[in-house]
Amino acid sequence: MSATAQATTPQESGAPFSERLKAATWSDHGAAEHHGFTQALMSGTLPIGGYTAMVAQHYFAYAALEDLGRALADDPVAGRFHWPGLPRVPALALDLEHLLGPGWRDQISPTPATRTYVARIEQMADHPEGFVAHHYTRYMGDVSGGQFIRQVAARTYGLTHEGLSFYVFDELGSLPRFRSGYRERLDSLDLAPADADRLVRETRLAYQLNTEVLADLGRVWRPR
Ligand code: HEM
Repeated sequence: MSATAQATTPQESGAPFSERLKAATWSDHGAAEHHGFTQALMSGTLPIGGYTAMVAQHYFAYAALEDLGRALADDPVAGRFHWPGLPRVPALALDLEHLLGPGWRDQISPTPATRTYVARIEQMADHPEGFVAHHYTRYMGDVSGGQFIRQVAARTYGLTHEGLSFYVFDELGSLPRFRSGYRERLDSLDLAPADADRLVRETRLAYQLNTEVLADLGRVWRPR
């Protein structure tokens, strides 16, 4: 590689926005991926109660995200991030019913970190690019690394579709194709530089808020 190529990062180059976004936030992704709670989950040593607690926290975050998505459906930026079959609240409700029984709603509550995360999502009502940041952080994760979590959880807890439907995106078809299509939408946003920077910054924050949620869970649920 030439010295010039080495000196040019995706943030500085004319790389597509989706590449710049990933490059600028990948270290924050690492913190979420390598958190102790995530590692316990991925190594098959997290008790099923910990998995269930994570599904419950997802429920509050996705309820906020999907309420906001509906509110911003006509926004020229946020409204482009809608796919039938993507919303996760119905799947989360099914999984929680399977894991906790019909009274699941009365058994779950948001942790302090989840309350902070939800409050931040709600603040994005006036910042469509911030909504996109939160949308990207969760759904692109679910259709990427989430698919590994699905395999490990199936093996560790003996779950089939029930209890795991959060990770099943049958209506989207091929997930690699979905991911490419998602990146194309990011690339076609044509945001003003200040808005693009805000989207990147909000994505970093979204990762950090997710990591805080994992930290709350990790304080209660330890590897077996
Ligand atoms: C067990 C934990 C995790 C593993 C093993 C994992 C793994 C991966 C992998 C392999 C990719 C695909 C990278 C590529 O396209 O080259 C990916 C992408 C992604 N992950 Fe994760 N991940 C994990 C946790 C998370 C968490 C907790 C979040 C969010 C809070 C997240 C958000 C994302 C996002 C947004 C992408 C898309 C990046 C892009 O292509 O722009 N991941 N992950």
